[in-house]
Amino acid sequence: MTTVKGFDKPIYVTRPVFPTLDEVTAKLREIWDSQWLTNNGPQHQALEQELTRFLKVPYLSLFNNGTIALMVACQSLRLSGDVITTPFTFAATPHVLSWNNIRPIFCDIDPVTMNIDAGRIESMITPQTTAILAVHVFGIPCDVATIQSVADKYGLRVVYDAAHAFGVEIAGRGIGTFGDISMMSFHATKLYHTLEGGALMHGDKNLKARIDLLKNFGIKNEEEVVMPGINGKMNEVQAAVGRIMLGYVEAEREKRRQLGAVYDEELADVPGITLMPKAAADVKLNHQYYVIRVDEAAFGRSRDYVYDEFKKYNVFARKYFHPLCSEFTCYRQLPSARAGELPVAEKTGREVLSMPMYGGLSADDVRKICGILKSFRR
Ligand SMILES: Cc1ncc(COP(=O)(O)O)c(C=O)c1O
Repeated sequence: MTTVKGFDKPIYVTRPVFPTLDEVTAKLREIWDSQWLTNNGPQHQALEQELTRFLKVPYLSLFNNGTIALMVACQSLRLSGDVITTPFTFAATPHVLSWNNIRPIFCDIDPVTMNIDAGRIESMITPQTTAILAVHVFGIPCDVATIQSVADKYGLRVVYDAAHAFGVEIAGRGIGTFGDISMMSFHATKLYHTLEGGALMHGDKNLKARIDLLKNFGIKNEEEVVMPGINGKMNEVQAAVGRIMLGYVEAEREKRRQLGAVYDEELADVPGITLMPKAAADVKLNHQYYVIRVDEAAFGRSRDYVYDEFKKYNVFARKYFHPLCSEFTCYRQLPSARAGELPVAEKTGREVLSMPMYGGLSADDVRKICGILKSFRR
């Protein structure tokens, strides 16, 4: 019988940040006054400028979600053939390749950062390879220097899925300035959100024009449709919420930083628990997630045991990312996805557990969650 008590109410892995209803009502009034609901309205134009500055990027285009944004990124760079990517990511990453008729080539990951192993990419390049699609997993930056040098050597494009990396910087440079294009997701569960939404960021004015055409059906003017585009437009309500949420993001980031420090402190000496990876000293993190790994041999319990047992205490952690994308039925027949080809990712997928992390938690909540976890040890 355990003496550790659970929570009275469920503690989920995250909880969206809600602006006040008064702020939203005031912005809705602006929209109603403008009589403009979508198609590059005043809220959209303002948010695009505000985010361009906030994220320290030369150009930014807003989208209705991150997945469509990433699909348009592939189209805008005319990617084809094979693209090297990571199996340790959300389903959307390889799916956008498939929707573009591109074959994902899964590359193993780094055991510490859990990002694509930049040192392995070169060995996977073939004449069919056109690009590298890397993910800044959990907001920890990829090895951007190595990835760019491999890409330059072989004439490949680099696209970053920066869905987790809102507000992350390397040596004062916005994370969206690396590679050819970066995508961010503004989904409700992210540190910063627009209900649903996303953006593409890059450094090329002509590319912005192409991206903006692609997200609006390829419509150039009333008389001309110049390419087969899609509907990727963010509407005015999304954009207005996004403008309000910009006022919340730094406080939320700071709360999560403090909670992360509590996890670090509480779990530092627990055998078999690996803490959330640290980034280089010049990286400004967003602390969106706190992810641990459970080594069954050293902890005496498996990750799956911890995940299941936590529920009895009203704690709902998540197995991000398990299963690996390479284990999905739609990808597991690919040569790069065969069992044993991705040993680090396979091990990480078995060990990883995303812990509750949102500003509404208190330091005591996190201490209690850690106490529950420690009580599982055998
Ligand atoms: C790594 C990653 N890529 C892509 C996406 C897709 O973004 P969206 O939900 O905005 O379409 C997400 C999550 O939502 C994600 O976590």
